[in-house]
Amino acid sequence: MNEREILSWFDLENQPFSKEIKTDDLMTLPTIQKAAEEVNLLIDTKGIGLLTGPSGCGKSSLIRKAASLLNKGLYKPFYVSHTSVGVSEFFQTLAAALGISPRGRRNTNLRNIKDFIVNLNDQQRIHPVIFIDEAHSLSSDTLKEIRILTNFDYDSKNACTILLCGHSDLRAKLKLNVFTSLSNSITYSILLDTLPAEETFTYIENRISSVGGSPSLFTKSALKLIHDISGGVLRTTGNAAWQSMIKAFQLQARQVEKEHVQMVTRN
Ligand SMILES: Nc1ncnc2c1ncn2[C@@H]1O[C@H](COP(=O)(O)OP(=O)(O)OP(=O)(O)O)[C@@H](O)[C@H]1O
Ligand SMILES: [Mg+2]
Repeated sequence: MNEREILSWFDLENQPFSKEIKTDDLMTLPTIQKAAEEVNLLIDTKGIGLLTGPSGCGKSSLIRKAASLLNKGLYKPFYVSHTSVGVSEFFQTLAAALGISPRGRRNTNLRNIKDFIVNLNDQQRIHPVIFIDEAHSLSSDTLKEIRILTNFDYDSKNACTILLCGHSDLRAKLKLNVFTSLSNSITYSILLDTLPAEETFTYIENRISSVGGSPSLFTKSALKLIHDISGGVLRTTGNAAWQSMIKAFQLQARQVEKEHVQMVTRN
């Protein structure tokens, strides 16, 4: 059994739930759309924002899409996904993401980063939008530095916009006293929630149709059970749906039924 055989059994051109989904193909389900509009509002008003949600609910995909939709004449997106701990290392990574040669020292990097931001924003009139993904993995010291990074002209100017993006516990962590200064500066705290059942169904049906399959490949009761298992988390939904398709294929069924999904839950 290989992937090609499974796809051709269901008349599909490609893997429907791949993480390699093109930016243009990312769906705008109501739950995602609501968060996306709040991200746009943050970018419009400038400043620091926080985007949180459970693992796999679509945060990185949302910011990928938001970055792609920015007006290139007015904004420039930068993306940092940094799971390591130290402050110096964080600034090195950020400098590299901005296209500046990273230096060894924290202070030199910070100065170069701020000069770059001011130049882009003030001279070139292009507002930098920095997406910091996996921010729940940043050390406390690094999180505190984010505030310093956005302090321009005696803290009277938004020379860049920063969106911190991470798992739900980041929101709780930032409520701690040590982060008061940062959390007070967060103008938008955006929650990307799990999907309600109807949106999970739409997600699966739409992904199947997008690769040439029949929207009724899954029976309604199979869709319901997948939603119950995944709790409306996109990645878990995709995984459960694909594994159920494998079970159906093994049993030579053309439609994925509740029983196939149940077999996955028993594994
Ligand atoms: N808008 C979307 N349209 C279609 N599929 C999506 C969309 N958003 C996410 N997905 C699917 O869900 C998967 C998980 O999304 P993503 O990686 O964005 O989640 P995440 O919240 O960043 O997860 P983590 O917290 O683990 O980093 C993607 O690989 C993709 O397959
Ligand atoms: Mg992510």
